[in-house]
Amino acid sequence: EKEAILETLKNAVKSYPDFPIPGVIFRDLFSVLADPQLFPLLKKCLIEEVKAINPPVECVVSLDARGFLLGPIIALELGIPFIPIRKKGKLPGKVRSYDYTIEYGQSTVEIQENSVKPGQKVLVVDDLLATGGTLDAACKLIKQEGGDVVSCLVVMELNDLKGREKISANVISLLQF
Ligand code: PRP
Ligand code: ADE
Repeated sequence: EKEAILETLKNAVKSYPDFPIPGVIFRDLFSVLADPQLFPLLKKCLIEEVKAINPPVECVVSLDARGFLLGPIIALELGIPFIPIRKKGKLPGKVRSYDYTIEYGQSTVEIQENSVKPGQKVLVVDDLLATGGTLDAACKLIKQEGGDVVSCLVVMELNDLKGREKISANVISLLQF
């Protein structure tokens, strides 16, 4: 049953060769969200994974921009805080920054100071794990704020890029490519 659902979700992910640069196959989560039958199935799978995490998470952090489609759904369902990590220059107040590289470029992400509380058990959520540069940056920012990253959860993992080897925390992926 669960395997069949995951297979259906995987088949619904539309792939675009050579986007945004030659050699990259872009995996587009929006093709799943566009299907009103599949979006709730995706939500159900994500919530199931999160509820099985031990120790239970106390806070959800997700990443600008596509992570924001998923993190708040999980935080709402669990009744815990949602905290954003955004691309440079988007968050007001005092922020902490980190430079990193991704499969097709490089970037800087920021978290607001004092957003994650010291000792808080954090779940990091994003749509996709490629080289791991983004999740690694997120984990580092959260740790610098004193948070305890219990797990990272992504919908899609690109196995060949071995991104999970870069992440010091536990990584859960729903679909592997
Ligand atoms: C994409 C994706 C992940 C990241 C994964 O984000 O949503 O966050 O790349 O790549 P990595 O594992 O190699 O770091 P992107 O920076 O393209 O931003 P977007 O969500 O704003 O489209
Ligand atoms: N982010 C990094 N690599 C990606 C890919 N191949 N598809 C979608 N998002 C990505």
